[in-house]
Amino acid sequence: MTKDVAAIIDGKAFAAGLRERIKAEVPKFQEQTGRAPGLAVVLVGDDPASQVYVASKHKATMAAGMKSFEHRLPADTKQEDLIALVEKLNADEAVDGILVQLPLPPHFDEKAVIEAIDPDKDVDGITPVNAGRLALGTEALVSCTPLGCLLMLRDELGDLTGLDAVVVGRSILFGKPMAQLLLQENCTVTMAHSRTRDLPGLLRRADIVIAAVGVPMLIKGDWLKPGAVVLDGGINRLDIEPGEAKGRLVGDVAFEEALPHVRAITPVPGGVGATTIAVLLRNTLVAASMRAGLAKPEGL
Ligand code: GUN
Repeated sequence: MTKDVAAIIDGKAFAAGLRERIKAEVPKFQEQTGRAPGLAVVLVGDDPASQVYVASKHKATMAAGMKSFEHRLPADTKQEDLIALVEKLNADEAVDGILVQLPLPPHFDEKAVIEAIDPDKDVDGITPVNAGRLALGTEALVSCTPLGCLLMLRDELGDLTGLDAVVVGRSILFGKPMAQLLLQENCTVTMAHSRTRDLPGLLRRADIVIAAVGVPMLIKGDWLKPGAVVLDGGINRLDIEPGEAKGRLVGDVAFEEALPHVRAITPVPGGVGATTIAVLLRNTLVAASMRAGLAKPEGL
C-alpha cells in the first residue's frame, strides 16, 4: 500500500533502541556468568576511515557495559603475527567476539586471516563456517549490515513472506548474506549486480530493494515500484563541489527522486550505516550467551 508521504527510516533511532535493549541484557549475562561480554577489535595499519570505525566501536562497546579489547598493529605486521594474535583471542575466555577490521594492508592473505577466527566468536559472520551455516539455515552469526537491514525491514513490514526482494550487489559482507536472510524470511529473492541486464525492469517488480553496490545514485526514482521499501547501504562520497569542505555523502539510490515513489526509505547518512555497530554489539552478546550455554537473549 502506498502512503501519501513516504517514511524516512531513522537508522540512528533504530540503533539507539537496539543499544538500549542490549544494555538492559548485559547485567543479566553478568549475573549468570560473573563477567561482562567482551569484544576484541583488531586494526592493522593507519587507514583513517578504519581508525574512525574502530574508535566508534570501542566507545559503543563500553557504553553498552561490555569489555572492549582494542589491538592496533603497525601496517608492516607479519601475516604469522596477526594469525598468532587471532589465535590468542580465540583462546581468551574473556573474548566473545573478534572483529578484524578490513581491508587489511595488501601484503596479507585476508582469506587465511578470516579462516583463523573461531566461528563461535565470528561476530562479523565472515568465516566460511558461518557463511555455510547461514546458507543451510542453521544458527549462524550473521554479518552486521545485512542483519541490521533485516531487523529494520521486520520493523517496517512485519512478516515478509511472499514479498519480492531485489538485492543489488553481491559482496561477501552485505549482498550475499542479505539474500540468504531474505530467503529465510520467505521472500522471493533476486540478486542483481554490475552485470545484470535490466536492473530497472527487475526493480519495478520489487516490494523490497536493498542497494549494496557502491555506485552513487545509481537507482532512479522511476525504477521503483510504488510502495516499495528501500534500504540503501551505499556510502559514496561525491567529488568536492565549490563551497564544500568535503564531498557530499550519498547512497546508491537517488533519494530525493525516490521519495515520492516509495513507502519507506533509509537516508544516507543516518540509515543503514547507522545501525551496523549496534548490530555488532547484538552479535557479541549473542555469541557470549551461546558460548556460556545460555539462551539467546529475547527480542534480539
Ligand atoms: N570494514 C568495513 N566494514 C567492515 C565490517 O563490517 N567488518 C569488517 N571486519 N571490516 C569492515
